[in-house]
Amino acid sequence: MAIYTFSFFHLLLAILPLMVPHATANLEGDALFALRRAVKDPGLKLQSWDPTLVDPCTWFHVTCDSDNRITRLELYMNELMGPIPKELGNLKSLLSLDLYHNNLTGSIPSSLSKLSNLKFLRLNGNRLSGRIPRELTKLGSLKILDVSNNDLCGTIPTAGSFSKFTEESYMNNSRLEGPELMGFVRYDAGGSC
Ligand SMILES: *[C@@H]1O[C@H](CO)[C@@H](O)[C@H](O)[C@H]1NC(C)=O
Ligand SMILES: *[C@@H]1O[C@H](CO)[C@@H](O)[C@H](O)[C@H]1NC(C)=O
Repeated sequence: MAIYTFSFFHLLLAILPLMVPHATANLEGDALFALRRAVKDPGLKLQSWDPTLVDPCTWFHVTCDSDNRITRLELYMNELMGPIPKELGNLKSLLSLDLYHNNLTGSIPSSLSKLSNLKFLRLNGNRLSGRIPRELTKLGSLKILDVSNNDLCGTIPTAGSFSKFTEESYMNNSRLEGPELMGFVRYDAGGSC
């Protein structure tokens, strides 16, 4: 009987996740949880990010519009360590992404180019490396870009919305070269990466 109880318990554990309605409609919550999983958070700033709470609009550092879509993510100066997950590109209504002054590593995901409403992108003061994804020049609404104080490399894109950004946006990335000369320095060849 004890054995029976034991295995029934385990069966229950196995099927329980199938019975509890998963927050399917919640691609945005999933994107935030991908971030929580990706980074170390020694200051426990993401502790309120509980994936069992269906509505991520109640989480700290997250702002939503009246339709419960995430419009702002404000996670600056939080000692977050690790990569920016590509899932953040699923936050389609995001206007402002502020991840500056953390300890983020890896490259800037090109999936951020899906954030077509984005106006503010501040990733400065981290340890991001790699090239600035060319795809980001598609962000037509982008008004402020700051990737200064990182370890980016390659050339600075100049197309699209990037035509209006100044040197300030890129300062203190010792391996970043540019701005890319139209037709002269190839994006994927210029700069030491
Ligand atoms: C960033 O990470 C490095 C290496 O893990 C660590 O030595 C440093 O103290 C961290 N800096 C901040 C501001 O959290
Ligand atoms: C350059 O950026 C790195 C990485 O964020 C930072 O640790 C360093 O203090 C910055 N240097 C200057 C001169 O601002």
